[in-house]
Amino acid sequence: MQNLYIKTYGCQMNEYDSERMADVLAVSHDLRLVDDPLQADVLLLNTCSIREKAEDKVFTQLGFWRPLKEQRPELIIGVGGCVASQEGAKLRRRAPYVDLVFGPQTLHRLPDLLDACLAERRAQVDVEFPVLEKFDRLPQRPGRDGATAFLTIQEGCDKFCTFCVVPHTRGREYSRSMPDILREARSLVDQGVREITLLGQNVNAYRGATGLVGEGDLAELLARLARIPDLLRLRYTTSHPSNLDDALIAAHGAIDILAPHLHLPVQSGSDRILRRMHRKHTVAQYLEKIEKLRAARPGIQISSDFIVGFPGETDADFAATMDLIDQVRFDQSYSFKYSQRPNTPALKLKDSVPEAEKDARLAVLQGRVNGLAQSYAQALVGTRQSVLITGPSRRDPNELTGKTACNRSVNLAGPADWVGQMREVEITAALPNSLRGRATAIAVQRVAV
Ligand code: SAH
Ligand code: SF4
Ligand code: F3S
Repeated sequence: MQNLYIKTYGCQMNEYDSERMADVLAVSHDLRLVDDPLQADVLLLNTCSIREKAEDKVFTQLGFWRPLKEQRPELIIGVGGCVASQEGAKLRRRAPYVDLVFGPQTLHRLPDLLDACLAERRAQVDVEFPVLEKFDRLPQRPGRDGATAFLTIQEGCDKFCTFCVVPHTRGREYSRSMPDILREARSLVDQGVREITLLGQNVNAYRGATGLVGEGDLAELLARLARIPDLLRLRYTTSHPSNLDDALIAAHGAIDILAPHLHLPVQSGSDRILRRMHRKHTVAQYLEKIEKLRAARPGIQISSDFIVGFPGETDADFAATMDLIDQVRFDQSYSFKYSQRPNTPALKLKDSVPEAEKDARLAVLQGRVNGLAQSYAQALVGTRQSVLITGPSRRDPNELTGKTACNRSVNLAGPADWVGQMREVEITAALPNSLRGRATAIAVQRVAV
């Protein structure tokens, strides 16, 4: 066995987990990550279960891999992530050729599962939630290359929004200790990372051991991370409005490397629907927090997730969501049609909004949100932005691409050795999905982003 191929669906936490699967198998079995599944001896599928058809997508992909296994019976096929966690051993009923089934919380056990599978010549299923082990058993992150990295600081969710599968697939909330996180962050920065995005399903519910006395919150962790020399930018995602407290709002004013952008999903602009969703916040409370944030950090951009067509959503509820969008003027949001998920409380509610109506509401909402995102992009034209250069541009490899503080892509001309640097860039045009810019002579050091 030499080569490992991993296909990843789902959120940024899954991307992080896939990297860690590669790390752990590199150390234990000397497996090397390859881009071509046909070259691989081990194929892993890291799955997502957030919306409908997620399971179908998994079985379609496995169907593509099945003939490879028939040609080479020694090929190992593994399924991890949230569908694996949800389905467990049942997954092998539909795909008996799968050798390994593991969850987000057991990926550190992959080496043992692989050994057991090879020794016993039978499939291994382990989708427990021994979350306390996971981070202690993962190796340091070797040989990363790139200017940006994800770092998971918190797992799981105790919120139990009625539509959401995450508490059932990722388990209860758990926060890593600050010394553990700081160690990982320092090692990333030593390897050239300049922007770190802290991840958690409920990242601002973070409460981890300080390493001194007791526990500390996300505001404290951010302040400690901001002291790492050469780290130029920090972000965190995804936050829950009810955990955005005054200390965290103050951190947005006080920590210069904290990006002036926050993803703060609201889901709906109707209190009646928020209650049915069990979201634990009202529209007024949400608006109050946004106001405080904007006072603490003028110019901060807010993005959100929205669900349309939640059971019982009326025209008036939807109109309230549109009003909220106009009031907040969100930047770059995600929106989804409600879909029923296994094990969730909303299954008991009648999925009352007809599909065509969901489609229509989604189109209206996306039209408005995209219009706001575009007008913000236009407003950036003519301004100077700090852009972290992340690599060659995908469209034109002779050009560079980078990210603004507000998390937009910018393409520009410049020498290859700028990759990994923060440069000052004048924005010259706003295209539908990216910006164009012209670099000034300035390399940005540790200053406000
Ligand atoms: N922890 C994050 C969100 C995680 S899921 C939070 O609390 O905001 C990402 C997004 O998927 C959610 O914000 C929601 O908008 C959407 N989503 C989750 N379950 C869904 C469902 N059953 N149907 C449609 N969209 C859903
Ligand atoms: Fe899901 Fe709600 Fe938890 Fe977010 S806060 S992961 S939407 S249950
Ligand atoms: Fe999907 Fe699981 Fe992430 S359901 S969104 S992969 S937490």
